[in-house]
Amino acid sequence: MFSIGARMQKKFLNEKVRNFPASNKSLSEKGYRNFALIEGKLSSDSIDDVILRRGSARRFDDLSIDFEDLSIMLHSATRVIPADFLPSGLPALNEIYLIVNAVDGLRAGSYFFDRRQDTLVLLKEGNFRREAGVLGLGQELAADASVNVYFLSNLEKVQSVFGNRGYRAAQLEAGIMGGKLYLGAYSQRLAASGLTFYDDEVISFFEPHANGKEVMFLVLLGRRKNSRSPSWNCTLKLNSSPFYQFGDQV
Ligand SMILES: Cc1cc2nc3c(=O)[nH]c(=O)nc-3n(C[C@H](O)[C@H](O)[C@H](O)COP(=O)(O)O)c2cc1C
Repeated sequence: MFSIGARMQKKFLNEKVRNFPASNKSLSEKGYRNFALIEGKLSSDSIDDVILRRGSARRFDDLSIDFEDLSIMLHSATRVIPADFLPSGLPALNEIYLIVNAVDGLRAGSYFFDRRQDTLVLLKEGNFRREAGVLGLGQELAADASVNVYFLSNLEKVQSVFGNRGYRAAQLEAGIMGGKLYLGAYSQRLAASGLTFYDDEVISFFEPHANGKEVMFLVLLGRRKNSRSPSWNCTLKLNSSPFYQFGDQV
């Protein structure tokens, strides 16, 4: 049971949260290429089977996955989260950015996921495997994976609404979406892994679109590799890595 004060505070929060993240309508107006997600369904495997199969991949093959599978994973991970800080029930505190290394039907490059439109917006086309590996704390599995999915949050805005609770709420929301990505991946008989990252460098990589945001979580998606030899060498030093030259990224 809420007191009147608590109800008013909740109403205030709900109105504020509804207003962010900021609308990205202008992206298509600015001429960015959009790729609508392909409609598809998760496999008919039961949740019990998927959970039993789930387990973070330690290595990924550098093979591609289908755009349809990526679409299904993104769509299913960004549906309703029942939480008191999400008035519409939909995730609102994080935005999703991707490095697409190898997806059949999609160009390699960096993307923003406009989840209101279920559309991927191409920020910059190119092969960014090496950069993905460096950003993922120099771990080759980030370069090998088909896709790197980053959750970014504008913490300043979030904290202006929630105070100190904001960081925890943003982390929780990213963690839940990350967990759903895992389930989606193993439902489609693919693999996933949660990874750590170089915070500031990730924001630089996705600049200027990601300006003002901070990284909450990273999930890799792709095909599990069983052999022990890495496909990519990501032992680049940060200050010599090529992504520092990407200041001109859209
Ligand atoms: C926030 C977070 C960051 C992580 N960072 C890394 C990482 O940088 N490298 C790594 O090998 N595992 C990392 N892990 C661990 C793996 O994602 C995975 O959770 C772990 O290997 C356990 O795997 P399991 O799913 O088989 O239990 C991280 C996990 C979390 C939740």
